[in-house]
Amino acid sequence: MFPDLNARMQTLLLNLIIASFVFLSSIKDGNAGITSSFIRSEWPSVDIPLDHEAFAVPKGHNAPQQVHITQGDYDGKAVIVSWVTPEEPGSSKVQYGTSENKNQFSAEGTVNSYTFYKYKSGYIHHCLIEGLEHNTKYYYRIGSGDSAREFWFETPPKVEPDTPYKFGIIGDLGQTFNSLSTLDHYMKSGAQTVLFVGDLSYADRYKYNDVGLRWDTWGRFVERSTAYQPWIWSIGNHEIDYMPYMGEVVPFKSFLHRYTTPYLASNSSSPLWYAIRRASAHIIVLSSYSPFVKYTPQWVWLAEELQRVDRKKTPWLIVLMHVPLYSSNEAHYMEGESMRAVFESWFIQYKVDVIFAGHVHAYERSYRFSNVNYNITSGNRYPVPDKAAPVYITVGDGGNQEGLAARFLEPQPEYSAFREASYGHSTLEIKNRTHAIYHWNRNDDGKKVPTDSFVLHNQYW
Ligand SMILES: [Fe+2]
Repeated sequence: MFPDLNARMQTLLLNLIIASFVFLSSIKDGNAGITSSFIRSEWPSVDIPLDHEAFAVPKGHNAPQQVHITQGDYDGKAVIVSWVTPEEPGSSKVQYGTSENKNQFSAEGTVNSYTFYKYKSGYIHHCLIEGLEHNTKYYYRIGSGDSAREFWFETPPKVEPDTPYKFGIIGDLGQTFNSLSTLDHYMKSGAQTVLFVGDLSYADRYKYNDVGLRWDTWGRFVERSTAYQPWIWSIGNHEIDYMPYMGEVVPFKSFLHRYTTPYLASNSSSPLWYAIRRASAHIIVLSSYSPFVKYTPQWVWLAEELQRVDRKKTPWLIVLMHVPLYSSNEAHYMEGESMRAVFESWFIQYKVDVIFAGHVHAYERSYRFSNVNYNITSGNRYPVPDKAAPVYITVGDGGNQEGLAARFLEPQPEYSAFREASYGHSTLEIKNRTHAIYHWNRNDDGKKVPTDSFVLHNQYW
């Protein structure tokens, strides 16, 4: 009798599991995607104290600090090395070579400095190294005497359609313990280049001389990664540094002195928008905080750059910007609407694969949707599924002192596939011309936890 009852109970249980599975699947397959209810662990949203080892000043007189590199040309055969010497200008020379301690080549850079209120920056060096071989590890040395420092980087493979490459995506990083956690997790990901979607240091949360000081601490904070692999910079609102109360009214002053981009290589007239090609990807960087409407320099440049994209050479077309065009978070709601109205039809026409943005301090991924049918007389007001549209991904969850944007709008709109208010970073692992694997990794108790992931199919191939 008991075994029979047991068997009937098991059948009942099985039916219940199947029924609930079908029910849950139907919810998931219905309109919108997932709003994650994960309870994240986080550090308080305050900046790391100035005397913390994360900001340690390298030893030695006038030792180079805040070392960072970025791509220096269109196709990845050049690198720009940047650093700061605190006490005196010193040398702007980079010695480099393909084996450790044997620097057979050298390049000469430039040095500049700036003031911000009464803060005086250190001596900021930028040095372009050209004519590098693809797919090669280079060691480089900067500074002189006992305080010289050595680092290394790897150049990308030749620009070819089936070249695998792994990008990391980080946004809105700041300099809190949450930022440190994001950076630590990112550095374990094995990604080769960071696509940074704006809002670097959050130094503008400070006043007077502390603004410059917090740009310096951020430079030392990220050096553990930026000295060894290129970070592809795009700007956010925290780079504007417009502070009339202290007489600082030149936008992007700190950023433009400290960070460089290879904008001339893509015929851009501004370091704030440009393009590069790396491995099998064509990456377009846009500025949410520069004019972009019809006839402006950024608009003209983008129209031309999109025509230069050759999907037979670079199958993957990736766009970076700070303000997301599709976000269902209460924070910064609709701020991307003006750029969407101007550029969305181009993103569809040119079959952009994916658009990464930051700004909103949470994670969100869209389905392929567009709203190009809408105009002020058509009355078609709703975004609709569109196979030619890009996937929109917001990765503004680097961990800065402003904290998380925890409130999403309800109900979750149909275009929203997954959203969660946790800190983390993303990776895009390109396998060949047709497939890439995308991951969002949430920072969770010191472990790398891949959370949202999917296979990205190329929009052209
Ligand atoms: Fe922002």
